[in-house]
Amino acid sequence: MKDIGLEKYIPIETFTELPRSNNNTARKLYVETYGCQMNFADTEIVNGIMGKNGYDVSENIDDSAIILLNTCSIRENAEYRIYQRLNELKKLKKQNPKLIVGIIGCMAERLKRGLMTKKSVVDLVLGPDEYRKLPSLIDNLVDNGEKGIAVRLSRVETYDDIIPIRKEGVSAWLSVMRGCDKFCTYCVVPYTRGRERSREMEGVAKEVKKLWDEGFRDVTLLGQNVNSYSSGSNDFADLLKACSLAAPEMRIRFTTSHPHDLSLKLIETIAEYDNLCNYIHLPVQSGSNRILDLMKREYTIEHYLSIMNDIKRIIPDVSLSTDIITGFCTETEEDHKMTLDLMKEVKYDGAYMFKYSPREKTKAWDMGDDVDEETKTRRLVDIVELQRDISEEKNKETLGKIYDVVIEGVSKKSDKMLFGRTDGNKTVIVPMNGSLTGQKVKVKINRANSATLFGEVIHSNQL
Ligand code: SAH
Ligand code: SF4
Ligand code: F3S
Repeated sequence: MKDIGLEKYIPIETFTELPRSNNNTARKLYVETYGCQMNFADTEIVNGIMGKNGYDVSENIDDSAIILLNTCSIRENAEYRIYQRLNELKKLKKQNPKLIVGIIGCMAERLKRGLMTKKSVVDLVLGPDEYRKLPSLIDNLVDNGEKGIAVRLSRVETYDDIIPIRKEGVSAWLSVMRGCDKFCTYCVVPYTRGRERSREMEGVAKEVKKLWDEGFRDVTLLGQNVNSYSSGSNDFADLLKACSLAAPEMRIRFTTSHPHDLSLKLIETIAEYDNLCNYIHLPVQSGSNRILDLMKREYTIEHYLSIMNDIKRIIPDVSLSTDIITGFCTETEEDHKMTLDLMKEVKYDGAYMFKYSPREKTKAWDMGDDVDEETKTRRLVDIVELQRDISEEKNKETLGKIYDVVIEGVSKKSDKMLFGRTDGNKTVIVPMNGSLTGQKVKVKINRANSATLFGEVIHSNQL
């Protein structure tokens, strides 16, 4: 995908934790994170577990005794990147044979002992439900030289009691449920993350309040299937309401929702509470009912569109985004055209778009992979270009309007600019203007492209 300049559409992929350094290299841990936001939140949990056991989180790979890769298996490419990274780590291990290298996360769960071949540089393999075992497996490795593996999936583990070590900042992740029971035919997640389970509502609401007190201003509630959250008699709408009331000024977002579980009650709750952001990411995957059926998505396009219409009617000024897969088994030009038509009808503000990547053990693996690479790529380019035009058109609608923007920090492209986000999750760039990080300011938009809005901070006397 990189070849055609699609980086913007690829979810955040790599990340290095921030330091809490001391000089004791032997207790230094460096975690590199790949994949979805759930993995980023899990890395904070791993850091919390390790911190409690006397380890320090480092940002410097060279002075760390333990390197963990928190991995993703969603597409072949994601795993390929990890093998490349392991090759690079081989060199580090040659220089320092005592270096401990671990694979954690979804790839650990999928490939298990297969990651520990004789020649492999890997010392530890831990699946997403086994992070509590990290300290003891490391002790055993150091004391007895035994490699460690723990890949059991749990029906109850939610790490409810673990205090994550977060990077200081304005926005935070917060996992509220784990696992997925949907078994879409193309997807590895139900196998790598196991069955759905949710944290208790009061605990989550308390954590949102705590995050506010610590200075966070924007929190994203996470789950692979976040709107099938269920704790006692409480559903996801109840959870959102409880979080909204616990920290009424905190901006609250969530991802990822499944169309099958998106209730009217949830849409109405978002409309009712001001701090629940007017932004919904609702993956559609394809515009063709035949393909949706093969994917086992459990909805039709007609049903999906009726939800979208309810959302647009009940939440004014809502922003919408989606995920789309091109080139799923048997996808024809006609199916592809239906996807383009759907995109034109919904007019998403943004989309994450992928070429279908067959995954072993999934149902679709046995259906074959009959759309050739060239066709997949061409269809991907079609939808990316269409989405770019739609995003630009939607972003231009903001010109001259004033938005509440929470400033998150200095822009990555220029240290003379700040960046922040609107309630609808659009990135806004404004000129540096004192220390505004963490503040909610009014911004008038004066320029926009398909990815970003540019504006100026308006002071109250100008309103
Ligand atoms: N739980 C979320 C999505 C999690 S994975 C949901 O159902 O909406 C994120 C996205 O990766 C999916 O929405 C899908 O578009 C894409 N994806 C998953 N498996 C894939 C595969 N085998 N090949 C290509 N893309 C895939
Ligand atoms: Fe995968 Fe489907 Fe579950 Fe999403 S809902 S994680 S696409 S199986
Ligand atoms: Fe990847 Fe696992 Fe997330 S497969 S997308 S890291 S749940």
